[in-house]
Amino acid sequence: MAVPVSRTPGTSLPDTPASYDPALERIEIELLMEGIYRHYGFDFRSYAYASIRRRLWKRIEAEGFHSITALQDRVLHEPDMMEKLLLDLSINVTAMFRDPKFYVAFREQVIPLLRTYPFIRLWHAGCSTGEEVYSMAILLEEEGLYERARIYATDINDVVIQRAKSGIFPLDRMQEYTENYINAGGKQSFSEYYTAKYDGALFSPTLLRNIVFSQHNLVTDRSFAEFNVILCRNVLIYFDKALQNRVHHLFNESLSTFGILALGSKESLKFSEYEDCYEPISLHDKIYRKVK
Ligand SMILES: C[S@@+](CC[C@H](N)C(=O)[O-])C[C@H]1O[C@@H](n2cnc3c(N)ncnc32)[C@H](O)[C@@H]1O
Repeated sequence: MAVPVSRTPGTSLPDTPASYDPALERIEIELLMEGIYRHYGFDFRSYAYASIRRRLWKRIEAEGFHSITALQDRVLHEPDMMEKLLLDLSINVTAMFRDPKFYVAFREQVIPLLRTYPFIRLWHAGCSTGEEVYSMAILLEEEGLYERARIYATDINDVVIQRAKSGIFPLDRMQEYTENYINAGGKQSFSEYYTAKYDGALFSPTLLRNIVFSQHNLVTDRSFAEFNVILCRNVLIYFDKALQNRVHHLFNESLSTFGILALGSKESLKFSEYEDCYEPISLHDKIYRKVK
């Protein structure tokens, strides 16, 4: 019978270094990931192991449990615990105009290409609470392209999608976002886009008019349209190589010819099976164009 790694066999005492067995810990983590997939449909089985392990232990400590097996018991029987763990595992860190230079490159090098299209479909895959989606809506509005654009914004996690739909972001981050906006080449006064209410900043509902938010899992769900632009920033970094390739297959299938793919600053197409299918528009800003 498997003994949870963080307990001394035969006792319920917390771990001692002598009882720590990394191979057994891996088995427990794999069993938990398999259980989550089979019971809830969330597939974290091919996410980068070190990151998953770190997040599981954070939750275990926060709940006062002593082992991965104890967490498994609660997660499989209590949907509320799954919801908490989903927030831990899905890592929703985001910001408006994150990496401002990316938006400068997008304005200068992608917008002129998009101007030639009668209608533009964009997909933000892994959009978290929506900050980058509102950033893109603002950019397209300022470039006079928003009327002919439709943004599809998806994430595995419905909790963050609901927050994104609300258009309310923490007021205490507006100073940072204003600086990002200016450095991203913003053309107005950033405060024109929101109204302050208590500790929240409510973004203009008119920005929502061409955005469709919905839940979509990059690991298990299929393509749902053909896009001119796919932005998937700071998501693939959490996946192992095989899963990254699978998601690149989905993106390649979902992009029109000469469609744009934008990745996060620490991500790249280098060494992916799809490297040859794209040419760089800005290598530094991780913006590529599909050529096959
Ligand atoms: C670090 S955030 C990145 C947010 C935003 N793209 C940015 O760059 O600021 C990663 C997001 O990817 C989402 N995610 C993780 N796995 C996913 C999957 N299998 N399908 C869709 N979204 C996923 C998470 O829920 C999280 O909101």
